[in-house]
Amino acid sequence: MKLSKTDPKIYGLIKKEIQRQKDGLVLIPSENYASPAALSCMGTPLSNKYSEGYPYKRYYGGNEFIDQIETIARDRAKKLFKAQHANVQPHSGSQANAAVYLALLNYGDKILGIDLSAGGHLTHGSKVNFSGKLYNFSYYGVDPKTEKVDLKEVEKIALRFKPKLIIVSTTSYSRTLDFKGFGRIADKVGAYLMADIAHIAGLVATGFHPHPFPYCDVVTTTTHKTLRGPRGGLILCKIKDRFDLKGKYNLAEKIDRAVFPGMQGGPLDHVIAAKAVCFLEAMKPDFKKYQKQILMNAKAMADEFKKQGIKVISGGTDNHLMVIDISPFGIDSKRIQDELDKVGIYVNRNAIPFDKRSSYNPSGIRLGSPAVTTRKFKEKECREVVRLIVKLVKNIGNAAVKNQIKKEVKKLLKKFPIYEDFQW
Ligand SMILES: Cc1ncc(COP(=O)(O)O)c(C=O)c1O
Repeated sequence: MKLSKTDPKIYGLIKKEIQRQKDGLVLIPSENYASPAALSCMGTPLSNKYSEGYPYKRYYGGNEFIDQIETIARDRAKKLFKAQHANVQPHSGSQANAAVYLALLNYGDKILGIDLSAGGHLTHGSKVNFSGKLYNFSYYGVDPKTEKVDLKEVEKIALRFKPKLIIVSTTSYSRTLDFKGFGRIADKVGAYLMADIAHIAGLVATGFHPHPFPYCDVVTTTTHKTLRGPRGGLILCKIKDRFDLKGKYNLAEKIDRAVFPGMQGGPLDHVIAAKAVCFLEAMKPDFKKYQKQILMNAKAMADEFKKQGIKVISGGTDNHLMVIDISPFGIDSKRIQDELDKVGIYVNRNAIPFDKRSSYNPSGIRLGSPAVTTRKFKEKECREVVRLIVKLVKNIGNAAVKNQIKKEVKKLLKKFPIYEDFQW
């Protein structure tokens, strides 16, 4: 029985969403278009299987093929990220982070993370998140002048706070992460160092961003942002626990035990198959070219915003994303995001460093190049898109301008179709 017959409502909405993605200009830096090969793994009966445990050590029968799939996924992840150990089971980036905290810490232990408004994620100690409720967080931010992380300041805070774990990461921070510098601080204060590379995983895998190993003990990531795979999480780590060399379990075993049975039950085998495909795709030369273009496109966007008189936080970008300050326009960022939605340009509003506004309606907009680069946009198109955004912002409420921009977005996207070979 086809879905269109069984459930025409859901069928119709899925069809519409696929069309929206094809017709939309996605500048949300955490979104991308996974390949049809990766997508094809997810709508399969692999989803039916229960496989609690790890390859060849399961609590359920019938895992002959699932064991092989997960082993391939783990081996590819290790190869791609030059890691000693990989756990491909976390359902999401948040769960990967939760598993690391569970593996290394006791509730109430101290963690030093990056402040949300400086570019951190909810799971790096936000008060409304489990991380901020269960662990004792302190935060480093950015320098008020440069809007970049100042390692001297991080070191001061770390020496004062004495965390057991330090997190180096970005959700909206557009500058290179200095894993080596953070490693020195972690060593000095006797803390574990965790990199959350959810956003920059594709850049790290292809050598366009410095590598977190050997400086970090543990690395978490999502598989669906610059890595362009299925929605999901991944943990990479060293095998030895340098603070617990004589313990019952080594670091890799602690991580595995924290994911299952600590955090999750059965893994999502259909997603793990898609992760394996994504890791294979990421080892291909084309993927390296793609990541290089992501960087060039992001730089072009930041440069064009500046040319148009818009402030880019920290003055530019070293990675795939940037945050622009829209406070001088005196228009709510939510309104701008909504107006851009209406012309088919998708962005997300975001706090800027030291933002005085609420996180629901902050002073910034975050944009990135991964999805449009998958569509094969080059710098020229990225600059054009920036000009359209600025035009809309400067003419908010002007219906004629809005209609014209909508037409231009359509025209541009027609030249760069996506998912032409995706059958559904
Ligand atoms: C740095 C970072 N870590 C973790 C996550 C959480 O990932 P997920 O949405 O898969 O839980 C995100 C999501 O945006 C992120 O930016």
